[in-house]
Amino acid sequence: MAQTTQKVFSPKVAGGAAPPSAAPSAATSAAPAAPALGGHTDLSADLATALTPDAVRGLLTPDKVMDESRQGEALNRSVAGAQRLAYVETYGCQMNFSDTEIIAAMLTEQGYGFTKDESAADLVLLNTCAIREGAEQKVWERLKHLRHVKRQRAQRGQDQLVGLMGCMAERLKAKVLDQEQLVDLVVGPDAYRSLPELIAQVGSGQKAVNVLLSREETYADIAPIRLDTNGVSAFVSIMRGCDNMCAFCVVPFTRGRERSRAADSIVAECAQLVAEGYQEVTLLGQNVDSYHDEATGVDFAGLLDQVARVSPTLRIRYSTSHPKDMTDAVLHVMAAHPNICNYIHLPVQSGSSAVLERMNRGYTREWYLERIAAIRRILPGCALSTDIITGFCGEAEADHAETLSLMRAVGFDHAFMFAYSERPGTLAARKYPDDVEEVVKKRRLAEVIALQQELSLASNRRDIGSVQTVLIEGTSKRSTAQWSGRADSNKMVVFDAVGRGEGPGTYVQVEISEVSSATLKGRMI
Ligand code: 5AD
Ligand code: SF4
Repeated sequence: MAQTTQKVFSPKVAGGAAPPSAAPSAATSAAPAAPALGGHTDLSADLATALTPDAVRGLLTPDKVMDESRQGEALNRSVAGAQRLAYVETYGCQMNFSDTEIIAAMLTEQGYGFTKDESAADLVLLNTCAIREGAEQKVWERLKHLRHVKRQRAQRGQDQLVGLMGCMAERLKAKVLDQEQLVDLVVGPDAYRSLPELIAQVGSGQKAVNVLLSREETYADIAPIRLDTNGVSAFVSIMRGCDNMCAFCVVPFTRGRERSRAADSIVAECAQLVAEGYQEVTLLGQNVDSYHDEATGVDFAGLLDQVARVSPTLRIRYSTSHPKDMTDAVLHVMAAHPNICNYIHLPVQSGSSAVLERMNRGYTREWYLERIAAIRRILPGCALSTDIITGFCGEAEADHAETLSLMRAVGFDHAFMFAYSERPGTLAARKYPDDVEEVVKKRRLAEVIALQQELSLASNRRDIGSVQTVLIEGTSKRSTAQWSGRADSNKMVVFDAVGRGEGPGTYVQVEISEVSSATLKGRMI
């Protein structure tokens, strides 16, 4: 049965009288969406130790693999007249990809162009993620490989500086600089402005480090250099840091205290993106519901309302909501604006109130379910995704069963799922033993993933026969004769190109006829 929603978003759609745009070609590639803030991507690494490779492949849905494919993505932008070349590789969440856009702006100002070839670069930067051990492991391996590249360049008489940026910087500065001699500079998430000085410092023969966390830095005045070369969808960072202190999470330590960017500067950036032809923005924060513009008192509901008014055809997404802080006011703003996507990412982490308590999440199972009821009441048909951790400290079989039952009760459309990975320095590492055996964590993870696949398939089947408004992002991964884009619900939709003026950045109407657990397929009407 087709799913109906009350909100109707009617941007100008391609087809008929729409302006001509490029026909699909091999050169246009789909820009995969980076994982949500909650959408971390080392799932395959988490699973790989517990299951056979075939079992892992069977469990991973294509969209998770696509998220995975962005890890370690190299920035590729040519800059006319560049005197030096930088190679910048990014790991982690959307926030980190957004930060790379700020780093790119700083480097461009310093006369750098960008290369995708690490051996051609004068400066190599890794923007890193520390969320789970697997994420850090990948970066260590890359650093060892890069040491080799640097030595080869040295043999050719060419210098190369290697820098570690982002969330691993604070925790690992001593190790990378001294013990392992792997990098020349270390720059934390609030210190990107000092990049030029640090580079100069290394040039004069010293190692350079700035991992100071700030209470004010939001980079509000820096115009990011967009990584999405399709010019369709952009990230807009609305706040930095996190004050929540979830027991498992390293983010408050790596990214510091929460601070919000002024609403005016966010609205101005969105207006600029519209002027440049962008069709979609994703507002980013670790906990958007605690957004608070100190100067004007604007909260997240107010900000969302202002951004929605920038242009009726600008699609708006945001990430991440926190169940303890998500207000009905935000839901009412979403209901009032058809251009705000009917989709919420609401990480639950566990279905057991006892585990949630130890996680220091600030809500119970009942509270979470009440928030879901409010979403269903105010936003009928709203798509929902979540994050789940299996095997957190003290998680018993009965707690795990509660997670599975909550998943069924909510019927999530999508989920990002992880085995618990203890992070040094966190509340949990200090307070609770990491006492769920690795095989048990992985088995529970496999059960959670299998259930989510069933739920995603059921959700997608409900869309058969419906007509979805899709914003085309590029050609599908399988064929250049097919387009792919996202529906309002954030689901990936693939359909044959018909050559009626549709192309990246245009909205089209697609009637859904076929689905898998990961993708909707249909026909453009
Ligand atoms: N182990 C496993 N998963 C984690 N996450 C955060 N910290 C950890 C950890 N130590 C997951 C949570 C969070 C998402 C960003 O990553 O589900 O919502
Ligand atoms: Fe993003 Fe850092 Fe968190 Fe990784 S650890 S998800 S990079 S904020």
